Order: sequence, then C-alpha cells, then structure tokens
Amino acid sequence: METLLLPADHQSLRLAANLLRSGQLVAFPTETVYGLGADARNADAVLSVFKAKGRPADNPLIVHIHDRSQLSALCTVPKEAIPLMDAFWPGPLTILFRKHSSVPDEVTAGLPTVAVRMPSHPVAAALLRECGFPVAAPSANSSGRPSPTTANHVLEDMNGRIPLILDGGSCDVGVESTVLDICHGAPTILRPGGVTKEMIENALGVPVMLAGSILRPLQPDEPALSPGMRYKHYAPKASVVLVEGSEKAVLSCLRNLCLEEQSKGRQSCVLCFSEHKEALKECSPHDIGPKADASEIAKRLFSVLRMLDEEGMETVFSEVLPPEGVGLAVMNRLGRAAAFRIIRAD
Ligand code: TXA
Ligand code: MG
Repeated sequence: METLLLPADHQSLRLAANLLRSGQLVAFPTETVYGLGADARNADAVLSVFKAKGRPADNPLIVHIHDRSQLSALCTVPKEAIPLMDAFWPGPLTILFRKHSSVPDEVTAGLPTVAVRMPSHPVAAALLRECGFPVAAPSANSSGRPSPTTANHVLEDMNGRIPLILDGGSCDVGVESTVLDICHGAPTILRPGGVTKEMIENALGVPVMLAGSILRPLQPDEPALSPGMRYKHYAPKASVVLVEGSEKAVLSCLRNLCLEEQSKGRQSCVLCFSEHKEALKECSPHDIGPKADASEIAKRLFSVLRMLDEEGMETVFSEVLPPEGVGLAVMNRLGRAAAFRIIRAD
C-alpha cells in the first residue's frame, strides 16, 4: 500500500474523512502526539489499528470526539466529569467513562469503561467535525517505539501500512494526554500528561491520586489499572540509565559513565539539560531542554529518543528532573524508556 503524506488542507481533510468512513486508517496530528485513527463504530477498522501498530489486543484505545453531544452515544457521564470537561476540553485530558454496549469491545479491549478525549489541535478538530462520528486513535507509532510528534515520525513507522498521514507540523505538548479514572472511587491519574495533578485538583476541589506504577515498574502480582502500563513503551533500542543526585555529582557521573562506555568501543551519549551541554561536550550531549522548563522538555523528548535509534546509540545516560507538574509526565516516559534503571551519583 502506498502511504500519502499530505499537508492538512481542506481537500486532504475531506479525503481523510472519506477514508475513515470507508473503514481505512488515517494518521493525524493532535496537540499531544500524532494519532492513528479508525471509525470507532467499526470493529474491523479498529482491529486493523492493532494490526498496523503490532499492538497487543488487550490494550484499549482512546475515542476522540469534537463535541460533547457525541458522548451520549458512547457512555454515561457522571456529574464529576462536568467541571473537568469545562476546564480541560478541548485539550490533553482523557477521561474514563462507563461505556454503552454500542461501543465495540474491540475499542475497549473488553473493559466496561471507555477512554474519551476532545483534542484541541485545529487539524484534529476539523477532521473529527468532517467525520461526524467518533474516531478511535492510539498514538501512531509501532507498538513499543516512542510516540510520533511529527508526520515524519509517523512515516518512519507506518510507511506502507496505512493510506494517509495528515501533516500538521510538530506537536505542541509532545507527550500523550493525561488519562484520568473517575469510575473507581477517588479520581486517579493512570497516565500523567500535559494536564497536571494540581490542575485537576483545582478543577475538582478534591485530592487526586496517582496510580502506583507511574514512577516504577508494575509488580508481577499488581493489577494494571490501565493496560498500557503493562507494556514497555517509549523505548529506544539503546539501553538507557537515569542518573540522579546533586548537580555536581550527576555531571561527573554522567561524564565518567559515558567515557567509560566509549572507551570500550560502544556508541554512547548523554541526555542533558541545555545548561549542561558545554560541561558534557565530550559525551555527545543531546539537549533535552532548559532545566526549569519541563514543558519544553516534554515537547522534545520523543524526538530525542527517536534520534538515539537513528544514531545507533547503544548506551545512554540521562539527567532527571523533579517529578512535579509536567515533569511527572516526562519522568514517567523517561523512566519507562530506562526500564526504571536509576543510579544515584552521590
Ligand atoms: O494524547 C493521547 O492520548 C494520544 C492522542 C493520539 O490522542 N493517544 C494515545 O493513545 O496516547 P494510546 O493508545 O497510545 O494510549 C492510550 C492509553 C493506554 O495506556 C491505554 O491502556 C489507556 O490509555 N486506556 C485506554 N482505554 C482505557 C480504559 N478503558 N481503561 C484504562 N486505560 C485505558
Ligand atoms: Mg501509545
């Protein structure tokens, strides 16, 4: 199959909507990452998403809508969801709802809940409006690869597997949406993203919990609140190790570890804050962004992880940031890229 990569204009949006309507797959930009869309009402189309990505069948998809009136066909909306939708939709918050039987089990991997989000990206919104039906869309990467934040990232993974990629430039947020469970007791963040715990607590006026496995691996006997937590994600081919501690100790540890690997003839580099590029110049530093700007780091992270593969890196040592605000989303993705291997420098 030939994969078209087209700028998102009026004509390509109509083509995209027609393809989706006929059960085919289209990749499109959202404000978080690129999505791989299928008509959420069409079980066969949804199954072909799993096939194109190589995604395990037990990992459910997020359903995308452009208008709240679409919810009544999908799920029951509890009153706690109203302030959340008022505050964060359209935007990078996914909310779990009890699903109606009309939603195919293929979308939710058999779960009684359906994850729904209303993206704010103008191309995603225009596409969803043009379709009129809800679109199920995971991130448009091959399963296990970092999520795509440019149309070219999608092409790397999906060339020949889907008919169309809409190019809307690079994504603003850079990490996937926050996934929030309001169906099982206290509101709980299953996956951190651009909408932070603090922002949700402000909107709801009650404390918000964090799923246990956000900053550590899921234990063998621990139930996965969100099936996606079970899988290795966001991982470049290189083995990644995180280094924490005081700034001075971290810089010296990163440098020593990287130079030692290089002396053994292994392709090795460091991921560091912009401020530390100069101090680590012998270690092929990859600039993840300014230390105080977690949003900028989130925006760059997946591009940097993909670059490591292109460069054939074998071992990578990275700085860490405080797991607060958007920093929590960054540390969740970096942690999983590193399989949560962390060294203390001091
Ligand atoms: O920003 C995003 O959310 C992007 C864009 C394209 O919208 N989508 C995305 O989808 O990241 P995906 O499939 O890569 O991640 C969806 C996550 C998975 O971890 C999945 O397990 C979880 O949401 N999820 C989906 N439905 C769920 C449900 N009913 N219960 C618990 N977790 C669910
Ligand atoms: Mg994904």
